[in-house]
Amino acid sequence: MAQKYDKLQQQFLCCYPVKKMAWSSVKLPLNWAEQQELIAATCGHPLNKSHPVRRSYLEAFLKQLMNLLKDQEELHDDLYGNLCGRMAETPSSGTAYAYKHYLIQPGAKITLRESNSFVSEGTTGLCTWEAALALSDYILQHKDVVKGKNVVELGAGAGLLGILLKLPALELHTGQVLLTDGSETCVQLMRENIALNFETKDEVAEVPQSETLRWDAVAEFPWDKFAETDLLLAADVIYDDSQFDALLGALDYLFKQRSNQLEMLLASTVRNVDTLHKFMTELNAHGYKVTPCANVSACASHFCRDHTAAVQIISIRR
Ligand SMILES: C[S@@+](CC[C@H](N)C(=O)[O-])C[C@H]1O[C@@H](n2cnc3c(N)ncnc32)[C@H](O)[C@@H]1O
Repeated sequence: MAQKYDKLQQQFLCCYPVKKMAWSSVKLPLNWAEQQELIAATCGHPLNKSHPVRRSYLEAFLKQLMNLLKDQEELHDDLYGNLCGRMAETPSSGTAYAYKHYLIQPGAKITLRESNSFVSEGTTGLCTWEAALALSDYILQHKDVVKGKNVVELGAGAGLLGILLKLPALELHTGQVLLTDGSETCVQLMRENIALNFETKDEVAEVPQSETLRWDAVAEFPWDKFAETDLLLAADVIYDDSQFDALLGALDYLFKQRSNQLEMLLASTVRNVDTLHKFMTELNAHGYKVTPCANVSACASHFCRDHTAAVQIISIRR
């Protein structure tokens, strides 16, 4: 049964921007029991207790909540308890990683350890980007796209998409899922994240695989250890045009390996139109046919997406 604070809970657990949260679901004044219910749904949630969100996020959330309740006579002790509990821990500046929990639908959630910075340890891949959420939404709204397919993701970062493809509760019936990234730190992190979301006793076929793969070294990768690829996925990998030749070289190699019986779904946040346009032109020059995918419905989103930046999803074939 839907609870009053479900939306706030979903937003809190994935660190959705505090100012944009569903505060309208909080009907003032809140009596003691209602305050308790709200706290239990957010910072007191068992997922946050076992794998806490970023401390600076918790502080911002509690500050906003206390501000909202400032005219009330009584503030619940747990509000201070949650704040002080975390303050007593290590200094916030010293923690580079924290957890996010993506509640996708009842019975289906993903917990990821992610970097607190967008760029750290020489890569952009240690946190989840909007394009990965948009591509996840697209797949959940078009499940046939992955059904029975062996999938390889390029530039998989922290691993959200591949973990989603294998989540039993989503019943996507995907074949083998191989997550790759050129950064070994990302591959280590995605392995940790895979372990967080699957049981060690799960059959190998039921769990995403993860390997280091730099696009300029695609020919040296041990492809024979994996099933034939049917579908390539990539999210937010078109931002640095110095990597275009390597990425197109990787696509050429993989499409040739499958005699062009391959599709790629590419999701890109529209930050710089010229950069995207340049990549489209190069795809065209390499003989690829690009089809824009049907719009991903924002209303039917399974994630808390900000929608401040547009995400373009295209299908690439040859
Ligand atoms: C912006 S992140 C996106 C991560 C993830 N797909 C997401 O959307 O959350 C880009 C990813 O591409 C990877 N990458 C960039 N250049 C690469 C290359 N030449 N070979 C392999 N991976 C690369 C980075 O390591 C990083 O993980």
